[in-house]
Amino acid sequence: MCGIVGYVGPRNAVSVIIGGLKRLEYRGYDSAGIAVVRDGRLMRRRTAGKLRHLEDSLRVDPIEGVFGIGHTRWATHGRPSEENAHPHQDCTGRIVVVHNGIIENYLDLKRLLLERNHRIETQTDTEVIAHLVEEQYQGSLLESVRNTLPKLKGVYALALLHVGEPQRLIAARMGPPMVVGLGDHENFLASDIPALLPYTKDFIFLDDGELAEITPDSARLFDRHGHETTRTPQRIAWDPIQVEKGGYRHFMLKEIHEQPQAARDTLVGRIDLEAGDVNLEELGPAIEGLRTAERVVIVACGTSWHAALVGKFLLERLAKIPTETDYGSEFRYREPLVGPSTLAIAISQSGETADTLAAFREAKARGALPVAVCNVRGSMLTREAAGTLLTHAGPEIGVASTKAFTSQIIAMLLIALHAARLRGTLERNTLRALLAGLTRIPSLMDQTLGLDNRIDALSRTLAHAKDFLFIGRGIHYPIALEGALKLKEISYAHAEGYPAGEMKHGPIALIDESVPVVALCPAGRVFEKMVSNVQEVKARGGRVIALVTAGDSTLASVLDGTDDAIIEIPPSEELLSPLLFVVPQQLLAYHVALRAGRDVDQPRNLAKSVTVE
Ligand code: M6R
Repeated sequence: MCGIVGYVGPRNAVSVIIGGLKRLEYRGYDSAGIAVVRDGRLMRRRTAGKLRHLEDSLRVDPIEGVFGIGHTRWATHGRPSEENAHPHQDCTGRIVVVHNGIIENYLDLKRLLLERNHRIETQTDTEVIAHLVEEQYQGSLLESVRNTLPKLKGVYALALLHVGEPQRLIAARMGPPMVVGLGDHENFLASDIPALLPYTKDFIFLDDGELAEITPDSARLFDRHGHETTRTPQRIAWDPIQVEKGGYRHFMLKEIHEQPQAARDTLVGRIDLEAGDVNLEELGPAIEGLRTAERVVIVACGTSWHAALVGKFLLERLAKIPTETDYGSEFRYREPLVGPSTLAIAISQSGETADTLAAFREAKARGALPVAVCNVRGSMLTREAAGTLLTHAGPEIGVASTKAFTSQIIAMLLIALHAARLRGTLERNTLRALLAGLTRIPSLMDQTLGLDNRIDALSRTLAHAKDFLFIGRGIHYPIALEGALKLKEISYAHAEGYPAGEMKHGPIALIDESVPVVALCPAGRVFEKMVSNVQEVKARGGRVIALVTAGDSTLASVLDGTDDAIIEIPPSEELLSPLLFVVPQQLLAYHVALRAGRDVDQPRNLAKSVTVE
């Protein structure tokens, strides 16, 4: 939530910062602002609404600077207005700050500052930081920021400048991410790597409690006591092209279509078909947990939580390990029974979701062995884990998660299959068959994506529906949840995912011709049961969109309504079929949202990375 970009160097700071903010807009998009300095003069520009409003304003009345900071906001304190947009400044107008996070004690600090005659102009929690730094300032911004940090309660990633300290930026981190990008006679700050990919591939990730000072020729890190620390920069192989739309109308559509490649990249080098095994050496010593853990706890949020539910199913079915899942936001508050014999897996695309991190830390504190499944190398989650299995989905920009989800399921399949091998819970032939099936998934995904036009046409008849029900059983229950989440977050239609067998215990009351029911009916163990549930819907005059395995003819005899639809998905092993059945649901959400005129990549009220609890 909230994106920060900072620049010092020979380029025009305004274009570097605005370009970086564009690549970070997925983090927050209710207001934006920039402050740059030139010839000792500060120029600040802020606007409510999307970044394009700021760009329009800069086009009409340009500003220039040689160093500066910028911000896209996801409002927490104070409505999204020009006045509340960052950057904020102190009473002298010489100290400027942008912030991602929440200052929990800001009301107390504000009261004290007002008593000391500071002029506070916004409703934000951030502005107090500028005034506190002002009080500490004695010629060194670095020192004054360091002395201010102990007064702040809460979480923050900060970037600051002082007009009187040319070509110098200070950053600090406690919680939300902050990276330093290293250039040649230029340096950068950002909330996330994509912002800086056109300029550098070399990054230093700030740790909690650390500060950074960047000038064009230096990037120095300090701990909270002011001692300089060193860190080897990490080289990030992501291509700048990956963070462009590449001819697609939206990032979400591009990312849906990138799933075969993301799946290939997540599998590559990890499957040994000859030996019938999975190579997960990258987990390091954590791998022992797959052999010995008495139970597994998986924590995650949102779409990643749906991947966790699939993971539970796989670990129990294949490796026979008792597994439970919990929302990151719930785990800590229920005194979880977790100990040294527990393997705690956190699943997160970003690796910076505050609730997931907090749950992971709780599990660690209770003695569990912490393992991460994550898409961002170097993120907080990966640094706190004893071992990480990276999903190689590449950068995901659309707020609605798609390719990260299927890559997470692949990662959980690899973990479950390897655990099964270590524990001897699966026949070698079954293991081999599943591994071989996995290698076929990317091309089956390609085939499934061929349904795009069909789903687009179907969406025409669904665009005005206000309520949807998604039903599935077994491993497809979380896929139904995911279908509903995708649809609601980007189309704003009300959509509920339900275990199909539970429908008759309540939700069936909702069924009539105006509530489309998306039923996941893959071939396999629960197919007949799903057919019965579909019949229950039809008996009540409901409209069904059935997703079936290609070749099935049973549903065709049940669904005779002109509004009903049958979507055929290429056949695969039952346990792998979620990877395919989720694809038409993503496309359905996309096309329905598009027809409803929604902002698909940046839906209202949401942000890509939720770094507050
Ligand atoms: O980065 P994470 O995977 O930890 O994010 C978790 C959720 O915030 C995320 O999946 C969210 O639910 C997406 N908007 C879903 O599309």
